[in-house]
Amino acid sequence: MTRSAPGVFIAGTGSYAPSRVVSNDEISTYVETSDEWIRSRTGIRERRFAEEGETASTMGAKAAEVAMESANVPASEIDLIIVATLSPDMFFPSTASLIQTQLGINKVTSFDLSAACSGFIYGIEVASNMMRSGAFRNALVIGSEKISSILDWEDRTTCVLFGDGAGAVVLSNTDTENTGIIDSYTGNDGSKAQLLCLPGGGSAIPPSHDSLEQRQHFLKMNGREVFKIAVRWMEQSARIMLERHGLKPEDINLIIPHQANLRIIDALARTTKIPKDKFFVNLDRYGNTSAASIPIALHEARQKGCIQSGDYVLLVAFGAGLTWGSTLIKWH
Ligand code: UT7
Repeated sequence: MTRSAPGVFIAGTGSYAPSRVVSNDEISTYVETSDEWIRSRTGIRERRFAEEGETASTMGAKAAEVAMESANVPASEIDLIIVATLSPDMFFPSTASLIQTQLGINKVTSFDLSAACSGFIYGIEVASNMMRSGAFRNALVIGSEKISSILDWEDRTTCVLFGDGAGAVVLSNTDTENTGIIDSYTGNDGSKAQLLCLPGGGSAIPPSHDSLEQRQHFLKMNGREVFKIAVRWMEQSARIMLERHGLKPEDINLIIPHQANLRIIDALARTTKIPKDKFFVNLDRYGNTSAASIPIALHEARQKGCIQSGDYVLLVAFGAGLTWGSTLIKWH
């Protein structure tokens, strides 16, 4: 039986991590902190920082190449590119435009999406619905970040948390029923926008001497508040997906949460009752890579053989906005 609208599945995954590894001990030489504080409060041991010349577009293009190879879909068959990033190469044109050219893809619909750390999940939702319309057949959804470029080295409460990198998937159409991207859920509470933002550089605070002096061009966060809200909305995002599909916590074979803080992930395991050993965690090696964190983890999980055909895989994220979301996948 064929379905009325084509289904969408993840045909391939890819990632790229810059070669420069930055340990907590190295971070302790830049700001007053310690390996012990960072590890015990976040679970992070090290992160990658992009080298000179590496950008969100160059890293995103590399992750996309790996994803296209793994999907066995050549660049010539990609007809949609969506890039989730909060650290684009520049305001405009979009990082997706730059990646398109680097991949040698010609004149296809390409745009960036701004949902911070939830951006990859937003990207999957947007791309899969565009594909269900029948207008697109193979999409690249990329999360790519060079967060090191917006870190304030005078603010130890934020600069120890983040890292650079990129992850990507190829989404393709399928006629097989009940497989692939089953459902997505996204939300945003704009009243909490000030809790996590980059205030300067836009039309509200254009670049000026004052804005530079006041360090407005760096990431700002009220970590304690974001932590509390993150736990609540990630739990809700996971629960909604289970309820909508009549699934029990133990039916989930693998959950890939946004990799921000191990204590947030522990809280999510407690509140969702999804067993802790079903959670994929790699933040100890990458830190928080924002929109790149879930696709990097998804690619690693596949490489490690953690995902089998027929598995239910649940992606859950939160981020600036404040945004949140989840994606339920039945692996093909
Ligand atoms: O992708 C979305 C991004 N958002 C997040 O991931 C943020 C979620 N929030 C968090 O992960 C946590 O709130 C943090 C890791 C940011 C902070 O952990 P916390 O347990 O909430 O610490 P805190 O802010 O309550 O600070 C505790 C203490 C403070 O000292 P006092 O006031 O108790 O004397 C801070 O000044 O730790 C101090 N502190 C540090 N000490 C050493 C804050 N940052 C550091 C640091 N090194 N890097």
